[in-house]
Amino acid sequence: MSELAAADLDRHDTIRAVNYAGGVLRLLDQRELPFTETQIECRNAIEVAQAIKDLVVRGAPAIGIAAAWGVVLQAARLEDAGHPIGTAMLDSTFDTLNAARPTAVNLAWALARMRAALVAAKGDVLSVLSAEARAIQEEDLAANRKMGGIGAGFFAHGIGVLTHCNTGSLATAGFGTALGVIRAGFAAGKIKQVYAGETRPWLQGARLTMWELVRDRIPAKLIADSAASHLMKSGAVQWVIVGADRIAANGDTANKIGTYQLAISAKRHGVKFMVVAPWSTVDMATKHGDDIEIELRDPAELLSISGKRTVVDDADAWNPVFDVTPAELIDVIVTERGAIERPDVAGMAKLAGAQG
Ligand code: MRU
Repeated sequence: MSELAAADLDRHDTIRAVNYAGGVLRLLDQRELPFTETQIECRNAIEVAQAIKDLVVRGAPAIGIAAAWGVVLQAARLEDAGHPIGTAMLDSTFDTLNAARPTAVNLAWALARMRAALVAAKGDVLSVLSAEARAIQEEDLAANRKMGGIGAGFFAHGIGVLTHCNTGSLATAGFGTALGVIRAGFAAGKIKQVYAGETRPWLQGARLTMWELVRDRIPAKLIADSAASHLMKSGAVQWVIVGADRIAANGDTANKIGTYQLAISAKRHGVKFMVVAPWSTVDMATKHGDDIEIELRDPAELLSISGKRTVVDDADAWNPVFDVTPAELIDVIVTERGAIERPDVAGMAKLAGAQG
């Protein structure tokens, strides 16, 4: 990446969703965006776990980063109370944070890193834990910037792209995964038009992705999720670019509900399909996408919009918030370790052996 390109990327990297300073974790409340920019303050792990459950903070990498800081907050509480900071005292903290959301493996991955740092810590344990949380956050940002360049390398000039959910700075340490590739592709003059699916029911695309794209002055049009196949048939998009919450060892990818139908439609219309995720989203211990737990959320999220009920009283709803796209529908998975074209067990294993 040239100096000029790095400066271009800086201009597209101005939002931070997770901010730790002075013993307080401040989270940009994503339930309130785009019209209100409110910070929620967390001072212990229970508050962080609740913020993750309630989607104050969301997006696979961002919830891992927030959970890592949750461990730091709890360790600080122990130190304040004069207790030793050890695994026995923090076991329930790890469990509470890990249980907050089931599908994104970044949560368990970040907590495993924090536990390993705790076990190995000597001397000032709180400083060791803080340094580890800081490293998790900084490494995610660096991975996103790197993936931006790798992903944009696949594009021809003058293309249109479709994205889903929010995979931007709000969902990560900064810059974003799929949205990072879109930012890099726009900065390189390759992407001319972005389409963002609104992402029912929580509207991550409409509320969050459009907010990020409009702030960055990237030409973007919102579409109803149900307009995606019609858009692809029109020839306006050459790539669908999405993030991931967990990628299995065979390349099957769990991501926001609706991703699977986009991949099917992309195949039907000759549109390329790219998944962008840091290696922390890869779960080599899960062999197949069918083994990924899919989070079911409150049906109430579907039965109302902005708190106003839209469905007849007594109606029920089914609200799975992720689905799994089979590897055979994915053209390329982009990670900071490199890209895997036509992902399969061998391609995933090759990159698993590569350096981060
Ligand atoms: O329920 P959410 O909003 O946490 O789901 C987020 C997604 O599905 C994203 O696409 C994924 O986490 C990748 S974010 C870089």
